[in-house]
Amino acid sequence: MPSQLKNPPDYFATAAALLLAVLVLATAARTGGAPCDKSDMAALLAVKSALGDPPALSVWNSTVDCCSWPYGISCDGNTGRVTDLTVFGREISAPIPAAIANLTALRSINFAYNQLHGSIPEFLGPHALPDLTFLRLDGNRLTGPIPPTATVFNLLLVGNQLTGQIPDTFADAVFGDVELSDNQLTGDASMLFGAKKQLNSLFLSRNRFKFDLGRVELPEVMDILEIDGNMVYGSIPAEAVARKWLSFNVSYNQLCGPIPQGKYTHRFGPKHFAANKCLCGRPLAPCT
Ligand SMILES: *[C@@H]1O[C@H](CO)[C@@H](O)[C@H](O)[C@H]1NC(C)=O
Ligand SMILES: *[C@@H]1O[C@H](CO)[C@@H](O)[C@H](O)[C@H]1NC(C)=O
Ligand SMILES: *[C@@H]1O[C@H](CO)[C@@H](O)[C@H](O)[C@H]1NC(C)=O
Repeated sequence: MPSQLKNPPDYFATAAALLLAVLVLATAARTGGAPCDKSDMAALLAVKSALGDPPALSVWNSTVDCCSWPYGISCDGNTGRVTDLTVFGREISAPIPAAIANLTALRSINFAYNQLHGSIPEFLGPHALPDLTFLRLDGNRLTGPIPPTATVFNLLLVGNQLTGQIPDTFADAVFGDVELSDNQLTGDASMLFGAKKQLNSLFLSRNRFKFDLGRVELPEVMDILEIDGNMVYGSIPAEAVARKWLSFNVSYNQLCGPIPQGKYTHRFGPKHFAANKCLCGRPLAPCT
């Protein structure tokens, strides 16, 4: 090994190693990071107070820089802006605090499994929070409609008491993951579909959606479709055969006609197709 150090390529290797070391040190210095943005700090303390100063957030200490708080916050190391807000499963019972609207660099919000009540405010979307792509509010007690502004790439609202229809604005929005199961939502959801859409997973189970599944184009990237327990009618689209389903459940709807046959009709049993108006063929009874 030592003799090889004399070879020219090893000088390059040594220089590269030094450069790498410098970069690692520079990165380490940066993770010390910029101090928390002053107005973000004020907004967070307003959020904490609006949530009723819960014990779970006692570590949000006003005398400590918010980017150093051990729970709930991530910051951008260069700007000190708050980018992620996570308060998960802490039994917090309050409406969603308006002060969140002042955290304008947020990319993700996760308030899943608390007891948040009231409606979903309009500022929880890219209109007011331009970098927001991830919104998780599942397992709360939220009521009222989904606001038309909630067009985030990952929208997770399962297990609330939401009512009304999917907003028209959702037709032109770019979604990757939409999870709306276990609410009381009604009407059309077909605007979420389209061959070229990026929608990867769609969970609509146990609502009151009513639309013609036979007229939608399943997104090419879609691998999860769970729409069981609605009033969806029409037939299963032929291109269902060409998708690589991780999960598929259309049971308890009003679907009709022959099930397009493919690998997935072997993988998913009768339970995933059952209790429709007149679906037939494997894994259900043969069409007559
Ligand atoms: C907040 O931080 C200060 C300084 O580190 C400390 O003295 C104080 O006890 C902390 N307060 C709470 C409520 O933890
Ligand atoms: C947002 O910040 C502004 C300016 O700091 C402040 O006046 C306003 O009250 C804040 N909004 C909320 C809802 O806290
Ligand atoms: C499919 O949906 C039905 C109705 O909601 C449900 O009972 C069943 O457990 C689901 N099956 C699977 C495998 O998820």
